[in-house]
Parts: sequence; structure tokens; C-alpha cells
Amino acid sequence: MAILVTGGEGYIGSHCVIALMDAGYDTVVFDNESTGFASTGRILSGIGSKGKLLGIMKGDLLERKDLDAVFSRYDIDAAIHFAAFSQVAESMGDPAKYYRNNVGGTMNLLDAMKDHGVKRIVFSSTAATYGEPEYVPIDEKHPQNPINPYGRTKLDIEYMMDDYDRAYGIKSVRLRYFNVAGADTLGRVGECHDPETHLIPNILKSTFGDGRTFRMFGTDYPTRDGTCVRDYVNVEDLADAHILALKYLENGGKTDFFNLGTNEGSTVKEVFAVCEKVTGKKIPVSEEGRRPGDPATLVADNKKARAVLGWAPSRTLEHSVKTAYDWEVRRRSEC
Ligand code: UFG
Repeated sequence: MAILVTGGEGYIGSHCVIALMDAGYDTVVFDNESTGFASTGRILSGIGSKGKLLGIMKGDLLERKDLDAVFSRYDIDAAIHFAAFSQVAESMGDPAKYYRNNVGGTMNLLDAMKDHGVKRIVFSSTAATYGEPEYVPIDEKHPQNPINPYGRTKLDIEYMMDDYDRAYGIKSVRLRYFNVAGADTLGRVGECHDPETHLIPNILKSTFGDGRTFRMFGTDYPTRDGTCVRDYVNVEDLADAHILALKYLENGGKTDFFNLGTNEGSTVKEVFAVCEKVTGKKIPVSEEGRRPGDPATLVADNKKARAVLGWAPSRTLEHSVKTAYDWEVRRRSEC
């Protein structure tokens, strides 16, 4: 039996593949290699652990035959579904790309699971399904009113999963990520987006003396120092939550959804200060106007994931910044 990981060569997916193997699961990666770091598959294949990476299938969720090929070839027990486009700004300009790939691709995956008798799925959802917060910290009872097509595609998928459970008995856990940060502690995999929009990699990219100034978007928010507050959850802690979600479903857990965050927020200026401390560098910065669509504060209430899944995030923001920096240094030397 193996776990199918879609998007297993991506940022979060690759950390999850390592966590799965460490937990003793055999895995199969399904990835179209449209984004991400080209050598991730090679790195994952070279990792020997308690579980094995049985194969990496290059395939597209929009091609039903690719999915049928992977489900026919391997004895798949459950899926963890990361593969998606995830850039908020891009989704505003090209919603068709997001609905086709994220919603259409997930429907193909669920249909293939239905036809091949696979009954469990863990899905990468997002805090973006909540939209503009009505209160913080945000718990799972908070209304879901996404304010961009990216968030709406993820919410549509959550609804689809409820319907596929009711009609076909496919149980799902939807994990609503807050701001994911950091890299593998052993430096094997990390974050690599093009273009990079995320805060921590963008600050770190400005430490290399190649003329890049970090642009700080918005210093007039109603927060403790005027910059946006976000809940930065470590990517290895996040990967651990997927293993717990899988075990929850294996033990007969019902379809459910959980916030993955730390219950604590950091401002952009606080994150910047941690980056200067960890790297020991003075980082060039320019304070600019607000980026459209950024809420002032997004912080998770993670009590439900703690209580039901037994999840306990433990790695600090400093650890996330340190591992992200080590990864960035290594990536530069290899590219
Ligand atoms: N920021 C900067 N400069 C940058 C990048 C970001 O100042 O170069 C600021 C942003 O304005 C924001 C904060 O840093 O205030 C965090 O921005 P990120 O882009 O790192 O993260 P977001 O909170 O915008 O986005 C995250 C996920 C999305 C998800 C969203 C929903 O990355 O996938 O949360 O809450 F949709």
C-alpha cells in the first residue's frame, strides 16, 4: 500500500514526502513539474528512510489517463493532494487558469479515486478561504468568504469533497494553512517560487548584495507597529500535521477541516528583524504602499487540530528563518 502525493515535488509536498517516508509510509509522487525546483525529484529519490519512494510519475491532473495510469500501477491507499496554482495576484488576472487546474484537476483526482476504490484524501486548503477576517484568532467556525479566485477555488474544492463523501464515501481532511515558512532542517528541500511573492524568501533574497532591496508593503495598518500580522507555521510542523491527518482517517475519522497555524502572529517588521538577526546582515529595505488585498491581521486558532489530531507545532520562527536562509544559500550555489 502506498500514499499518492500530488504536487510532491513542490514546496510543501516535498517536505510531506520526507515526513511520510520517515513515518514508514511508501509513497508515490504525481507531479506535472510545471513549477518548483527541478532537482527535487532527484533529491527525494535519494533519501532512504523507513518508507520508500516507489515512484515519481510525471503527469497532469487534467489528464484523466495519467491518473488512471498511477492508480492502476500502484496499490494506492490514500491521497495527499497539494498540486495547485497558489498565487493570489495571478488568480485575479487569470481566474480561468485557477478554476480549470485547481477545481477541474481535483475533480479528476476525486473521480479517479472513486473509480479505483480509494476512500481517503488529505487536502491542502488555505486561510484564504476565510477572506477578510471578522475576528482573530480565526477558528474553523469563522465564515468562509474568500476575496480572490485562488481562495474561492480552494473553497469550491472543500464543498466538492463534502458532496463526494455523502455520495461516494470518500473521507477528506482539509488542512487550512496559514503562512507556511522555513525549509527542511537537513537542507534537502525548500521553497522556490518564480516569481517569489512570499515575505521570508523575499527578505532573504535581499541579503545577498546583488542590489535587491526588500520592499515592505504597508506601514500604516492598525497593528502594533503598522505592518501586517501573519501566523508563520513551520513547513516541517505542517508536514507532521498531514501524517496525523492520514492516521486520523485510517482510524475511521470523519470528514473534517482544521486550521494549521501557531496561534501567534508576527508583524512584517518583526519578521524582518528576525531575518537580520539570523543572517547577521543589514538588509536593504524600502517602505512602500499597501499591497492590494492584504488584510491587516491573520492569526489561526489551532485548538481543533491540537485536540482532534494531536498536532503540536514546535518549531520557532527563528528556526524557519534559519532553515530558509540555509536553503537559499545552498540553492544559489547550485543553480
Ligand atoms: N510582504 C512584503 N513584501 C514582500 C512580500 C510580502 O511586505 O515582498 C508582506 C505582505 O504585504 C504581507 C506579509 O508580508 O503583509 C505576508 O505576505 P505573504 O505574501 O508572504 O503571505 P500572504 O499572507 O499574503 O499569503 C499567504 C499565502 C497565500 C494565502 C494567503 C491567505 O501565501 O497562499 O496567505 O491568507 F492565500
